Amino acid sequence: MCGIMGYVGKKNAAPIIYEGLKKLEYRGYDSAGVALLQDGFYTAIKCSGRVEELKKRGALNLSGKIGIGHTRWATHGAPTPENAHPHFYGKFAIVHNGIIENYAELMHECLERGEKFSSSTDSEVIAHLLAFYDCGNFLETVKKTVRRLRGSYALAILCSDFPNEIAVCREKSPLVLGVSEDGVRIASDLPAIASESKTVYVLRDGEFALVGQKKVSFYDQEREIQKEGMTESFASQNFSRGKYEHYMWKEIEEIPTAIDQTLRNFKVNFCFSGLCEVLCQTEYIEIVACGTAYHSGIAAKYVFEKLARVKTNVSVASEFRYADPIISPHTLVIAVSQSGETADTLAAAELAKQRGAYVLAVTNVAHSSLTSIADRVLQTYAGTEIGVAATKSFNAQLSLLFSLALELAKAKGMSPNLTLDGFSLLSRQVILSLNKIQEYAEEISKANHVLFIGRGVDYCCALEGSLKLKEISYLPSEGYPAGELKHGTLALIDEKTPVIAILTRRELAEKTMNALCEVSARGGKIYLFTTLPEYAEREEIYRSFLLPSCEELFSPLLAVIPLQALAYFTALKRGNDPDKPRHLAKSVTVE
Ligand code: G6P
Repeated sequence: MCGIMGYVGKKNAAPIIYEGLKKLEYRGYDSAGVALLQDGFYTAIKCSGRVEELKKRGALNLSGKIGIGHTRWATHGAPTPENAHPHFYGKFAIVHNGIIENYAELMHECLERGEKFSSSTDSEVIAHLLAFYDCGNFLETVKKTVRRLRGSYALAILCSDFPNEIAVCREKSPLVLGVSEDGVRIASDLPAIASESKTVYVLRDGEFALVGQKKVSFYDQEREIQKEGMTESFASQNFSRGKYEHYMWKEIEEIPTAIDQTLRNFKVNFCFSGLCEVLCQTEYIEIVACGTAYHSGIAAKYVFEKLARVKTNVSVASEFRYADPIISPHTLVIAVSQSGETADTLAAAELAKQRGAYVLAVTNVAHSSLTSIADRVLQTYAGTEIGVAATKSFNAQLSLLFSLALELAKAKGMSPNLTLDGFSLLSRQVILSLNKIQEYAEEISKANHVLFIGRGVDYCCALEGSLKLKEISYLPSEGYPAGELKHGTLALIDEKTPVIAILTRRELAEKTMNALCEVSARGGKIYLFTTLPEYAEREEIYRSFLLPSCEELFSPLLAVIPLQALAYFTALKRGNDPDKPRHLAKSVTVE
């Protein structure tokens, strides 16, 4: 959360920082700021609201060839201009992504020295500490300062005594540097710098860099270090919205490619991963993840257990890490994360490793922090996902985890006669039929409360459909196991409560139908998403969406698509921006 950006080079820094921040807005968008350093003086603009506000307030007219900027997702302190970054103290200006856990204690020290604070953030204390530890050597000052910090940070720091350099460092928050002919760009994520960068460096935890116009020098706590840059063509990566009004819809339409690319690459990557042996020995699987990735884990549990008979547990990463987890021998921990930067998932993976588990990372981002923690990485190939509400990355995670389940089954001596071939094509078919979802959205947008239900593997779609609806339409909703409805939630049903049901498993269909009859008898309106035409026709069903028939166990790959579309259209009907839901951010790098 929060996006940080910096530039030092031959060009005017303000437009470069502004454009970079626009591309980082998915990380937070409640306030923003920029500061430039010229002739030993700072000029800055800070505001509440989105990055665009900076432009309206003249940020593009600031002059200077070195500067830093920030787009915020508030943790400590409301999204006011005072709390927006950069924060200043003495000669220093800083932008920060992360949380300083011991800020109160550090702030107390500063107050005792008589220093005054201008914001109510945890971050400002860093600028104060820099001023306190200032020893005339920029790097040493930064090193001394960060030794005092507990928590997570990616920092870009200016000092008016060093008008041509930005100091950067990181601990548990991402930071990349892109070198080009005109200068060096610093950012929280690749999309902000990719199109201009010839060589990209990924800073790792505990590393520092001094960034000048022509040179970047890297350090660890002790000495200068050499780092290998990536020189592939980043410009070709597609980060733009193109003809689409929203990233979310673009990304829904990219699902067939995400499935196809993930399945293709899995075949090759798995062969060379050495995982076959690990799977043979695996007796227990623990999946850790957050949000949408957690829901892909729930689907995977059903499939691992059904196909390979390996006991699997799925934990929300933040719960796993504080539950004092028991890791028995031959446990495979699978950490699933689109971004590979979610703080709780990283911490859960680290803890699992410390306790002796073999950790497999499933992530969409090749050089993310999770990849440096895990023993092995299997990448999903959804392409960059910008919309805060995850869509195509979920389908890519399912594709990968289901493929892994087939390999696990083989490793356990079973020969499942199932295939994922054809799912990319089927998903295209589903996308072509999404138009009618707009009608459903019109009705659902007027509801006060929505229930999503499913049984078996369909339950993961109920959870994910409900999460999508909540996060972008702000409608209260719950995902429930169909059979559990009668144990309390049925009391919520009346004629104003839409019930979205997912039904793809023939052997469970009658049981789920029982729950739907109970809903219908109480006046609830049932929207059924099913692969089974005979149930779509039943009189209890208010509206039905027919999914193509497919291998039942893998049906979430298709069934989730109309639910993603439902959330999208409902958000639009309710006047919300589906790409930037209130209070949320895509990459949750704080705990
Ligand atoms: C945030 C996003 C969700 C995402 C979750 C986990 O909450 O808004 O869409 O599912 O983080 O992210 P990850 O990158 O670890 O998959």
